[in-house]
Amino acid sequence: MEPRKSSNTFWHHASVTRERRELLNGHRSVVLWFTGLSGAGKSTLAHSVEEYLFQMGCRTFTFDGDNVRHGLCSDLGFSLEDRSENIRRVGEMSKLFIEAGVIALTAFISPFRSDRAKVRSLVPHGDFFEIYCYCPLQVCEERDIKGLYKRARKGEIKNFTGISSPYEEPENPELTIDTDALSIEESVAQVIELLHRHGIIGQGSNQ
Ligand code: ADX
Repeated sequence: MEPRKSSNTFWHHASVTRERRELLNGHRSVVLWFTGLSGAGKSTLAHSVEEYLFQMGCRTFTFDGDNVRHGLCSDLGFSLEDRSENIRRVGEMSKLFIEAGVIALTAFISPFRSDRAKVRSLVPHGDFFEIYCYCPLQVCEERDIKGLYKRARKGEIKNFTGISSPYEEPENPELTIDTDALSIEESVAQVIELLHRHGIIGQGSNQ
C-alpha cells in the first residue's frame, strides 16, 4: 500500500459509534467477502443473501465487481497491480460500512490470497467472513453468461482469470459453497446459518 500522503490530518472520534449503530440495528456489522472465478455465482449469491437479510430487517449493502468497476474503480484494469488496488479500495470501503453498522457483502473475483489477507486484516478479528464460491472452471466456461471465456480463449481478452491469469483458492475460508452442486436457496441457507452460528444476526429485536 502507498504511504499516506496527507500527514497533517487528525482522526476525529465520532460520538455515534459502530456499537451504538449495531444496537439500534439489532445485528452486528460484518464483511461477507465472496470470492471465486467469473461465473461462479458470487454476485447471484451475494445479492440473494442480501435480499434474505434485508427482508429480516438487516441493514445491508452489496458491492459487485462489475458495478464498482463502472464507478469507484473505473480507472482500473486487470493487471496484477490494478486488481490489488481494486481489492484494496473495496476493502477500505467495506471497513467504512462496518463502521456504519452495515452488513457489507462483496462479490469480487479477488484472485490473490495476499490481497484477501490484507482486506481481512483491515477489519477487527472475527468481522470478516471469506466465502469461497467454488465452481469448476469447466462449468464456469460452459455457463459463460457474459461470453467472456470464449473471447479469452480466442486471445481477445488478456489476463483473464482461470485462462491467462491465476486464481488462488482460499486455504481457510469461513465457508465454501459448491455453487455447481447446490441450489441458490441451499447456498443462501448455508450463509445465513453461518451468520446465526457466529451470533451476527438473530439476537436483536429486529430478527
Ligand atoms: S478482480 O480480479 O479485480 O477481483 P472483479 O471482480 O473486480 O475482478 O471483476 C471481474 C469481472 O470483470 C468479471 O466478472 C468479468 O465480467 C469482468 N472481466 C473483464 N475482464 C476480465 C479479466 N481479464 N479477468 C477477469 N474478469 C474480467
